[in-house]
Amino acid sequence: MSNYHIKHLEEYFQVYRKSVRNPEAFWEEIAEEHFLWRKKWNKVLSWDFSKPEVKWFEGAQLNITENCIDRHLTTRGEKTAIIFEPNNPEEEAQHISYYQLHDRVCRMANVLKEKGVKKGDRVCVYLPMIPELAITILACARIGAIHSVVFAGFSSNALATRINDSDCKIIVTSDGSFRGNKSIDLKGIVDKALEECPGIENVLVVNRTNSPIEMKADRDVWLQPLLDAAYGDCVPEIMDAEDPLFILYTSGSTGRPKGMVHTTAGYMVYTAYTFKNVFQYRENDVYWCTADIGWITGHSYIVYGPLANGATTVMFEGVPSYPDFGRFWDVIEKHKVSQFYTAPTAIRALAKQNLEYVENRDLSSLKVLGSVGEPINEEAWHWYNNNVGKKKSPIVDTWWQTETGGIMITPIPYVTPTTPTYATLPFIGIQPALMNEEGNEIKGNQVEGRLCIKFPWPSIARTIWGDHDRYRDTYFTAYKNNYFTGDGALRDAVGYYRITGRVDDVIIVSGHNLGTAPIEDAINEHPAVAESAIVGFPHDVKGNALYGYVILKETGETRDRDNLRNEINQQITEHIGPIAKLDKIQFVSGLPKTRSGKIMRRILRKIASKDVSNLGDTSTLLNPEVVDEIIKDAL
Ligand code: PRX
Repeated sequence: MSNYHIKHLEEYFQVYRKSVRNPEAFWEEIAEEHFLWRKKWNKVLSWDFSKPEVKWFEGAQLNITENCIDRHLTTRGEKTAIIFEPNNPEEEAQHISYYQLHDRVCRMANVLKEKGVKKGDRVCVYLPMIPELAITILACARIGAIHSVVFAGFSSNALATRINDSDCKIIVTSDGSFRGNKSIDLKGIVDKALEECPGIENVLVVNRTNSPIEMKADRDVWLQPLLDAAYGDCVPEIMDAEDPLFILYTSGSTGRPKGMVHTTAGYMVYTAYTFKNVFQYRENDVYWCTADIGWITGHSYIVYGPLANGATTVMFEGVPSYPDFGRFWDVIEKHKVSQFYTAPTAIRALAKQNLEYVENRDLSSLKVLGSVGEPINEEAWHWYNNNVGKKKSPIVDTWWQTETGGIMITPIPYVTPTTPTYATLPFIGIQPALMNEEGNEIKGNQVEGRLCIKFPWPSIARTIWGDHDRYRDTYFTAYKNNYFTGDGALRDAVGYYRITGRVDDVIIVSGHNLGTAPIEDAINEHPAVAESAIVGFPHDVKGNALYGYVILKETGETRDRDNLRNEINQQITEHIGPIAKLDKIQFVSGLPKTRSGKIMRRILRKIASKDVSNLGDTSTLLNPEVVDEIIKDAL
């Protein structure tokens, strides 16, 4: 058990040193002792960031579901693996034991096989936060199919792009989804998407909302009868360490979404090891991460990391405001949650509500609080610490990304002293570096720069599906021999890291990564729009909100401006989803551009955040006069 569970700060430093001095020996020991392998590796690591190529545990064979399910059956068969808490608190929660999970995953795996899904095929999963979502991805992993989960808040257009990008032949969805007092017609969205997806042969439909839907003959079929008829055991497909486990799309600063590819062995080892330590998980704890499995946080820290440790993980279908703003605290009290992992945007929204919601609940089961997705501001940190943790539960501010697969910079609770707004220290095995604009590493403390990682860790994404060149160009070109994160960070006097935010054209709104280019493309499709530019501005709940500057075509457009604003947001909702809607839309006659035609977003960002005191030298712009006009009409 040595090194697997870190218990004090000195031990952290010792283990950290060991992990960076001899990473291969370190990860080999973790992999040997804590996982089930069908065959051991020939080589722990080979890598070359210039290609880029990273391989962990080459030659090893395994199935991740044997690690997440089967091996627990002898010791934890009756233990609850998943607690499903439905949207409506009056509907009974489900407790799915490891035995039951095994049965349900095997049945689903057999259904997929019957539908012709084979090792290496891509399966699109477009489901709400119901048990079938976790079960479907595990079933894919059981048979070696690659799952591609698309967050069920994305629009039909966004879904179609993702299905086609990875050539999925089958999609698993539901009739609808419940979100608070709303129900959403998911199947309708899928039907619309599939008009653009000729490759999809089968649609498996979970009955969740009982809403009327259309079932297309020879294509759509209800899932439950197939599951009932399927056999409850399925021999796991034996996978190579570097076989892809899943694709998960994330926004880039330009164009199409990037299908990040994660592989099997390294991802398993790293998510399991980080889960154990970052949440100090102990047998019989109940762990709850409020993310959606449509994002990486849900993949790594609702499904794979917890289950690989034989943990009990909560899946919550609903929203924090339904039936009222006390729902999170109700769920913690009801299931006696020990570790609670959520996003700053949720904390800020809840901190605005009457304190009675928190105070009237028994939160004494809590031991660890987590935060992820964006920088947590000081006020939200203190509110979380005082009112939820009662100053007794350490807050782990975990910095990581879809691309990193697992948590990278974080305190270890009860081990690392925490400081508000600081993600603190690199996790075991992680070697961060701060770079200056010239591309050189800035050594020492009390420095600020662009955050890179110097050395591979087991769960780094291996490529972008179908576009390895883009993978290289996006992450490995700006800083030679380094993985570039796209974030800025500072390192303080004691070596703690604080993430200062994105340094590229990605904006994080309510913890969701949004690229400016796809939103601008959506807006520009509106017939009245000539050009647009999107920037973020500070928002007290969302962290950032979106501000759009829009140039209309010179057609003598006379429509009411508010109608146009609604239409533009409708356009965005259809192309991407409601999460990308703009809070403010300003119509302008031009956009500030450099002489080479590049939009000066720095200026637009300052105007949007009402900080026009120091715009810098605007005289070199192609059209300096437009700046005054934009300032004058700013919203
Ligand atoms: O900018 C960082 C921010 O979220 C980005 C990654 O987003 P995504 O791939 O969607 O993954 C989110 C969940 C892992 C990062 O580049 N970010 C994430 N966590 C933090 C954060 N920024 C500051 N502090 C964090 N704890």
